[in-house]
Amino acid sequence: MKRILPLLLLLSACTPQGWTAREREIIAGPKVMNVLVMPQDSVFLRSQSKDLGPKELASEELQILLEKMLATVQDPSQDGVGIAAPQVGVGRRIVCVQRFDKEGEPFEAYVNIRIDSLSGPTICGPEGCLSVPGMRGIVPRSSAVHLSYLTPDGTPRQEKVEGFSAIIFQHECDHLDGILYTDRADSLFVR
Ligand code: NI
Repeated sequence: MKRILPLLLLLSACTPQGWTAREREIIAGPKVMNVLVMPQDSVFLRSQSKDLGPKELASEELQILLEKMLATVQDPSQDGVGIAAPQVGVGRRIVCVQRFDKEGEPFEAYVNIRIDSLSGPTICGPEGCLSVPGMRGIVPRSSAVHLSYLTPDGTPRQEKVEGFSAIIFQHECDHLDGILYTDRADSLFVR
């Protein structure tokens, strides 16, 4: 036991746990969050987002963050159809997507989300991004996504989504890997 205790302490010190001080500061900030934009925030927007651990998943801060991300994407100043956590300065695998495939077209939040696979024909459609103001582009995307994620209460789910919401999921999950739609666009134009 004398030998094990210091080892356990060392392991817990090396394992990243909980929200960072900067993340806590952002989560405690205004309900409509500041959205990072290119090119000035490119370093953060180009970074890889991390999964939430058990500590963050069980925290009250997560619920506050999801509420504020949902408020931000629906705010008239933004008026988007989706948002990813890195866009509000939180490098975590969280996205909010408007579900045009569901009754009432609700905005929903997804935690530790991954695209397992893509299927269906490739379709090209116009996209914009809250982090790339004043621009639009035509982007080829798969028409269906197969997703793994946790619901806001931590329930694991797998789901196949088709149609416009499948496009939004691809756009938002790209943000978690530091990819912007401008990287994938066939053409770009000023709005
Ligand atoms: Ni975007």
